[in-house]
Amino acid sequence: MSGVHKIAVLPGDGIGVEVVAEGRKVLDRISELFGHTFQFTEGLIGWAAMDATGTALPEETVRLCRESDAIYFGAVGDPARDASVPPKERPEPVALLGLRKGLYANLRPAVLNPALTEVCPLRPEIVKDGVDILILRELTGGLYYGQPKGRDEDGNRAVDTMVYTIPEIERIARVAFEAARGRRKKVCSVDKANVLACGALWREVVTRLGKEYPDVELSHLYVDNCAMQLIRNPSSFDVILTENTFGDILSDEASMLAGSMGMLPSACLGDGDATPFYEPIHGSAPDIAGKGIANPIAAILTAAMMLRHSFSLETEALAIERAVDQTIADGYRTADIVAPGGSPISTSEMGSLITARISAA
Ligand code: IPM
Ligand code: MG
Repeated sequence: MSGVHKIAVLPGDGIGVEVVAEGRKVLDRISELFGHTFQFTEGLIGWAAMDATGTALPEETVRLCRESDAIYFGAVGDPARDASVPPKERPEPVALLGLRKGLYANLRPAVLNPALTEVCPLRPEIVKDGVDILILRELTGGLYYGQPKGRDEDGNRAVDTMVYTIPEIERIARVAFEAARGRRKKVCSVDKANVLACGALWREVVTRLGKEYPDVELSHLYVDNCAMQLIRNPSSFDVILTENTFGDILSDEASMLAGSMGMLPSACLGDGDATPFYEPIHGSAPDIAGKGIANPIAAILTAAMMLRHSFSLETEALAIERAVDQTIADGYRTADIVAPGGSPISTSEMGSLITARISAA
């Protein structure tokens, strides 16, 4: 793709602001080196938007996103302020779930850089064969959206509904099988088919579709077993395909295999009109916000995913990923990935060091 790439930049709350700024540095360097034009337009979202406009997802931000080719997002949320608005008006459901509409495929790669083995909480012999997992989380179905949903009027009872249709399962499964073809050709589909009707349907549909991909090895795990196997033998996984809530939980677990939540990027993709949405998987982390100590690598790798998936700029995405690897290999660490006794660098130092290592070759 050539010409102007329009990017809606939504830093949001907490460390979102700090890490997105580093991603911007990296993208500016890429445009300089490779001669691309990225047109960045910042929009308000989250509590920042609430303060300015009274809603976590203002109409103006929605319009900006609709008119953009990609959304580069930081984080939203602040538990200290949650009690000040009804749950339905909080940034997480309004802004995050609002912008994810139509984007059913959430790609969450969890890769352990070998140089970070010492900060991975698992013993070195368990991760010695490497960790390189792509979690494909279904993002627009299941418990998050199923109806009925809510709290009874008397407050005594609450309900969430898990719903999946065959087409919903098929389309995310296809993304998983296709992705596996570009990797180690293994898909592990995760469900709770022994208890949940949605799980039984999930397994049936994925099994049937798997026959169209005879070159991809398909296995199935119950989600509880998968949670255990991720810790017991993480190297055995290539692509993990799962529904919304299980993917939410398993991706946090997998992030620790990469050493820190601060290392994991993600992409939310669809095949309709919705603008692709790119976000680090970590949240706003109010406990460390404003201190300049957050790890910007997840946000920087998220920028690489945006170049790859929205603009087909594979060389440029690889240049960013190489620069991150090089910076880690050179020994630089933010607080979350520093080994005991090491001295951490700041968010902006990490961003600048990575930016300086980006090269076209
Ligand atoms: C994530 C987050 C969100 C989710 C929350 C904040 C709504 O945990 O992106 O993983 O559950 O999807
Ligand atoms: Mg989550």
